[in-house]
Amino acid sequence: MSAQIISGRDIAAEIRSELTARTVALPDEHGVVPGLATVLVGDDPASHMYVGMKNKAAGKMGIHSRQITLPADTSEAELLGLVAGLNADPQIHGILVQLPLPDHIDEGGVIEAIDPSKDVDGFHPISVGRLATDSGVFFPPCTPAGVIEMLVRSGHDPAGKLVVVVGRSNIVGRPLASLLIRKAPGGNATVTVCHSWTPDLGAVTRSAEILVVAIGRPEMITADMVQPGAVVIDVGSHRIDDPGSEKGYRLCGDVLFDEVKEVAGALSPSPGGVGPMTINTLIMQSVESAEQAGRSD
Ligand code: GUN
Repeated sequence: MSAQIISGRDIAAEIRSELTARTVALPDEHGVVPGLATVLVGDDPASHMYVGMKNKAAGKMGIHSRQITLPADTSEAELLGLVAGLNADPQIHGILVQLPLPDHIDEGGVIEAIDPSKDVDGFHPISVGRLATDSGVFFPPCTPAGVIEMLVRSGHDPAGKLVVVVGRSNIVGRPLASLLIRKAPGGNATVTVCHSWTPDLGAVTRSAEILVVAIGRPEMITADMVQPGAVVIDVGSHRIDDPGSEKGYRLCGDVLFDEVKEVAGALSPSPGGVGPMTINTLIMQSVESAEQAGRSD
């Protein structure tokens, strides 16, 4: 049996047309054009690629997007000054500082400097605390929010399900667990989080009705680690050597796709799965932030 393929690309395209309609209406309804600032420090090729994709998508959807690219030797004080300027700029409703930052910059300090009302990336401790306590107004981190949207829109609502999350990062695993246990749409799941200290990982992943993998290791999840019929979401994104291919490399996720698709009931590919959903969530949250700013004016 071959799994249903959950195409993040197709779901994201569906959401994009809904979002564009909202963005287009904003200047008339709220008197604002949503503005997103992305800040990139250094030369990391993957970060350049991700930020470029985020800006391209924002531009296509009628969002004013401002990319600020700084050299790797930018000082922490300069970066904090830039963030303060963006906090005060009424044209900017969302701020994203791409991680990782160079080693000489205190990442936590920079994230804390972002105005929580513009924290469309959901990394500020106030956003994290509000998500963990499911209280107040906040934006959740984009990748886990995209995973939930993808599950719900593909007919696999996590409510009442046993969900196993592999990975405990601040960007994916932890916030995803918080979102899944919320008493809210997209939540109400029973969640287990696995990490490098989990004994007999396969026994735990096999217990999952929904398995979300964000461990950052290429093709680590094999068919024997998946319960027949389970829904599997692959958050991983890697470029690995492949001497047999024309380019000498290929893209893959954390899940051994060809093997797992024969066991799973549904499976998201990588690329073409979670990535486009992450970008959409960022745009959506920037639009929401602009709507909130428009209402409070
Ligand atoms: N680096 C990897 N993923 C992300 C993300 O979602 N946001 C930011 N700011 N940096 C990242």
